[in-house]
Amino acid sequence: MSKSLSKKSLPEKSSPKEVAAAASLDAAALPEEQAEFAEAVLAGLSAPRKAIPSRFLYDARGSELFEEITGLEEYYPTRTEIGLLERYAGEMAEAAGPAKTLVEFGSGSSRKTRLLIDALDGLETYVPLDIEESCLAQAKAALEADYVSLEILPQVADFTKPVKLPEAASGARLGFFSGSTIGNLDQREARRFLTNAGRSLGPGAGFLIGADLRKRPETLIRAYNDSRGVTAEFNLNLLARINRELGGDFDVSAFRHEAIYDGRFGRVEMHLISLEDQTVTLLGQRLRFREGETIHTENSHKYSLPEFRLLATDSGWRHEALWVDDDALFSLHLLRLPG
Ligand code: AVI
Repeated sequence: MSKSLSKKSLPEKSSPKEVAAAASLDAAALPEEQAEFAEAVLAGLSAPRKAIPSRFLYDARGSELFEEITGLEEYYPTRTEIGLLERYAGEMAEAAGPAKTLVEFGSGSSRKTRLLIDALDGLETYVPLDIEESCLAQAKAALEADYVSLEILPQVADFTKPVKLPEAASGARLGFFSGSTIGNLDQREARRFLTNAGRSLGPGAGFLIGADLRKRPETLIRAYNDSRGVTAEFNLNLLARINRELGGDFDVSAFRHEAIYDGRFGRVEMHLISLEDQTVTLLGQRLRFREGETIHTENSHKYSLPEFRLLATDSGWRHEALWVDDDALFSLHLLRLPG
């Protein structure tokens, strides 16, 4: 549903021109997903320091490119986390205790989910949470043929807010949030996420969370500025998405991808840098970019172990256990909500 009007006010498959025309009158009159995107883009590109929230990187093409990133030699987080699960899933399951329901925040990669499900004896229900129905359908399809006795109950939900889990998701619960997606949230958002996840999972629940660790800036820059340019394409796709969905006229080749590490905040930042002075028209607005001006498109926070512990305890969780690979690149944390 749209925010202020019913979805019927604009056909589901509107052309960018129709979308733009409607949006220039009132961005809130668009179907909810596009209205939210339009509002965020217009607000972010009109600010003195231009920025667009990183969640908009993930349209169908962006998700495909992210999948490709996870297989790159330079991008160590995915294979390191999988390595940890392959090696320690049994230990993790034992430490987590007898879970009846596994709740995954984001529909996740079926490879990681399988490793955990295989280790959890007595698991009855798997609840993947995601805002995208198509991701949930994929998650369900990837698992149901191989886990016939597991009840799979996908839930369309914005998991950064408290989620009411289905009745069947009863018994001891274990949450799973992999990939260091928590690193894409700032401190306040990460705390709010952990607090809300606690409300969703309930007292006594366990929570297994992947967090990327602080390390040499060179390793981080390589991971976010790979030699094949896949991350650059992932970042630049945001401008292409604005053109496709909101009728913008960005010349994508007039911007370049940049990844920098800011040690003060322990985070990698992705930016799109304007290669020249230029004006872009979008939703009836003319937006000016100076040569060298940047659009900040993502933060990826890297934690030290004490920083992550503090984040968890500040958000009402007890820190129970920790697994780190031999090169100290990535960590998996088991948290527990007091019963
Ligand atoms: C999804 N997220 C954890 C990735 C990260 O590493 O922050 C997104 C990403 N951005 C560039 N490369 C990967």
